Parts: sequence; structure tokens; C-alpha cells
Amino acid sequence: MEKYNHIIIGSGIAALQLATHLNKSSKVLIITKSKLNESNSYRAQGGIAAAIGDLDHPTFHYKDTLKAGCFFQNENAVMELAQNGPRIIKSLNGNGLLFDEDDSGDFSLGMEGAHSQNRILHCGGDATGKHIMNHLFSEIPPQIAIVENEFVFELILNSDRNKCIGIKSMDENGEVHHYFGQNIILAVGGVGGLFSYTSNEKSIAGDGIALAYRAGAEIVDMEFIQFHPTLLFVDGETRGLISEAVRGAGARLVTAPGVYLMDGKHTLGDLAPRHIVAKEIFNRRASGVDVFLDISMIPDFEKKFPTVSKICLENGVALESGLLPVAPGCHFLMGGISVNEVGETSVNGLYAIGETASTGIHGANRLASNSLLEGLYFGEKLATYLNKLNVSNEFISINEEGVLNRDQLFIPNKKEIKEKMMSHAGIIRTNLELVEIEGWLTQFSVQDNALDKYSKEQIQVLFMVQCAKLIVNGALLREESRGGHIRADFPSESQCWQEVHIVQSKNGIEMRRRTNERHQVEVHA
Ligand code: SIN
Repeated sequence: MEKYNHIIIGSGIAALQLATHLNKSSKVLIITKSKLNESNSYRAQGGIAAAIGDLDHPTFHYKDTLKAGCFFQNENAVMELAQNGPRIIKSLNGNGLLFDEDDSGDFSLGMEGAHSQNRILHCGGDATGKHIMNHLFSEIPPQIAIVENEFVFELILNSDRNKCIGIKSMDENGEVHHYFGQNIILAVGGVGGLFSYTSNEKSIAGDGIALAYRAGAEIVDMEFIQFHPTLLFVDGETRGLISEAVRGAGARLVTAPGVYLMDGKHTLGDLAPRHIVAKEIFNRRASGVDVFLDISMIPDFEKKFPTVSKICLENGVALESGLLPVAPGCHFLMGGISVNEVGETSVNGLYAIGETASTGIHGANRLASNSLLEGLYFGEKLATYLNKLNVSNEFISINEEGVLNRDQLFIPNKKEIKEKMMSHAGIIRTNLELVEIEGWLTQFSVQDNALDKYSKEQIQVLFMVQCAKLIVNGALLREESRGGHIRADFPSESQCWQEVHIVQSKNGIEMRRRTNERHQVEVHA
């Protein structure tokens, strides 16, 4: 029986920032279902947004974030994030993380969609995630325990079922393990793996959301999902991200050389907010026309974008052609587990940070390059909070371990879920298609009881079904189009829905009025 003060599930940027900021005297476990470096954060090409340039200011960053998110954020949280951005960058830099610099030795600040200023910092060109994560790995104190390749499939509650006290995990041999802790933190990413087209690590398919929901936590605004406009598209499949920084460097979306897709569609053209660009590409492709990213005007492309170049090379796309075939795919979940300002969920002892959590930062659509910053900020903030709590050596525990016989479960296969989610709850949604997928999902079991008797593969699918239901419920109920949630049958934003969160828990689905989320700075759309 293993006992910890803090158990961190996941190994992305928020998880590691938390781990490296916790008191060295506390007993900490990081547990991940794959390898430590298999996370969306590690793959991140895009950089970190921070108002660090001479002409920039956190208020500009704040305003851009609100506008991209359709003014659906917790404005206080956004202001805090924007204000802390420059400090976080300087602190990482001071600790040895090298950001790309321009010829004068200043931070090189890139441009991305919906930003009013150049404020995107990168490391190693488009290998920002890898560099930051390697830096954080090197900072993990040696006393922190790390368990890889164990899939957390249940949160253990106390006997009154009002406090989370531990986790159950399954290793590669199907053996079940129990770990107990005072504080359990979910930092396992979003829902990309639920869709057939995604930029995400394929294994990231809503585990955190399903785990929290099953433990009784509130889940909020699951309909807000960002589809990134430009994933490399080869042989009917998406093959990885082509960073928005490529468009920031001048690349244009075309349907043929010189025929520009975004002309006349938005004042920001190719750098319009992601949902607008994704929708245009989606519609054009749906009418049978292929869409490409024209990169021919970018000198030294391979040097500037080594990660994108590698993905193209691996998939047989010649950079010399100057045209990269693209399609939009699921990129980021703005909704998630409902948390307060430090990351506490509605279940005692259970916390969530990073993409798994809905912190109020992103609203209906995330501004480019805000997610690494969010992970760093909330990882650090939760550590500060937890460091002030009493560390106890008293643990509640139960005692059962071992391999069990597996039962049958009526569930679909992963491919079916991904395809149905992409076609029925993807970039453009309608009541008809949502009702159809809702009906389809209803037939599958999500077993309210303990899951020990099922295989890891079965539980993962069950979690996908659970999470798909939450997305579809939210998307059906919200009868408007806002940011990442586009309803063809309700094409405009609605003032009524502007005021409402959709909250789901085991108690059902609820429309809850947004309160106390306004900041005193005046912002005009
Ligand atoms: C990108 O580089 O386009 C993705 C970065 C992000 O989503 O913030």
C-alpha cells in the first residue's frame, strides 16, 4: 500500500510545473499511463504567449484573450494570467531555459492568430514544448516517485463518498494497484483522441473528465472544443500539426496556387481566430475542394520549422512543392472539470489543472499559445496553495490488489466513436446529427460500479463513451454558435447563452448563471 501527500496524474506541463514547485518535504507521486515525455505539452510546436515586448502590455494580452474566447471567460482569471506571463517567462529564463532570440539578442517575439501584438516566445523554432518539458524534467526533485505505463481508472473515495483519498491504476499486465494520497491532482489533458482528426497524442481521450465525473465532480461547458485549422492531411488522415506560427511567418491558405481561401472572409485573413479559419477550410473541403498551406514565400523553412518539416518528410510531403495539404482537427478542450481559482474541483481532495480543467481562461475559444502559459501558471499556483496545507502522515486505506477475471462489456470500438464524433459532433454541428449520435451513445454502458473487472482497453473505451456523452449533451443544449461551438442551425451568438454555463454531474445537466466573472477593466468587442 503506497501513501503520498500529493498524487499527480499526468505528465504534461501543468503536472510538472506543479511537481517542481511543491515543498521538497512532501511525498509526491507522478503517475502517467504512457511514458513521461508522451504528452501534448511535449509535442507543442506553438510557443508561449506573454506580454513581454516593449510595445506590449498585459492589458492588451487580456483583451486579445477575451476577444478570442468570445467574452465567455472569468475575466479576473484572464487578467491574472496576462499579468503573470512576463514574470513566468523571466523566471524560466533565469533558471536556464533558453528562448529563441532575434539578431539583437532580445527575445524573438512571433505573431499568431487573433493576437494584436508580437508576443509568442519559442524555443528551438517549433520545438517549444520539447525544450520546456526537458527543462522541467531536469528540475524534478529526485525524491518524487514516478510511475510510468499505469493507467489510472478510478478515483477512490472515502466511505462517506465525499472525499477523494486515492487512485486505482492498472499496469501493462493488467494488475491493479492502489495508491493513497491527501490530495489527488488530475492533469491529463483533453479529448483530442475522441475525434478521428486530431493534433493530440492519440491516447489523450478524456480520461480525466471521465474519472472526475464518475467520482461526482462537476464538469462544465464541454461543447467548447477548438479545432485547429491546419493539420497535415495525407491519405485521408491527419498526420500532425502545422503550427499557426507558419501562417504567422507569412504562409497562406489556398485552394490552388494564388487562390487565397481567407480573402474577404475576415479582416485578419489567414490569422483570423481559429474557429473561423477551421470553419472555412471545413466547408471548402466538404464541397470537394482540397485546401493547402502555401509556404513558398518562407525562406529557410526547414531551419525555422524543424518539427513541421520532419512531419512532412515522414509523410512523404515534399517541402519543395511549397504546398502542404491541410484539414482541421480537434486540438483543445476549453471546457472541462469545473475548478475554482486554485484548481479545487467540487469533490474534496480532488484538483484539476491544465487542459483537463476549466479554469475560466479560455472561454469559448482559446487564444493561440495561451495553453502552455496556463499550465505553467496554474501548476505553480496550485503548488503554492497545497504547500500551505497541513501535511499529514495519516491516510485512510483499503486493501485489495491483484489481477481479476475480465468481464464482457457492451461498448463500441474506438474507431467508431472517433468517426461518429468527428462527423456528428465535430467542427459544424446540427440538432439532427447531435440527436442521432446521442441516441447511438445511449445504447452503450458506462457502468456506475467499480471497474476492476474490466480490461484497460475496455475501460478506456468506456471513458471515451462517457466523455462523448458529456460533449454531445452540452452541444445539443447550447443553441447558439460561440467560438469552438458552431451550430449550423443556430449560427449566431445569443445574449441569453452568453450568461450561462452548462454544468453536468451525476445529478444531471444544469444551466448555471455565470457570476462574479467580470473584471473592472472596460473591454469593447
Ligand atoms: C500552434 O502552434 O498552432 C498551436 C499552438 C497552440 O495551440 O497554442
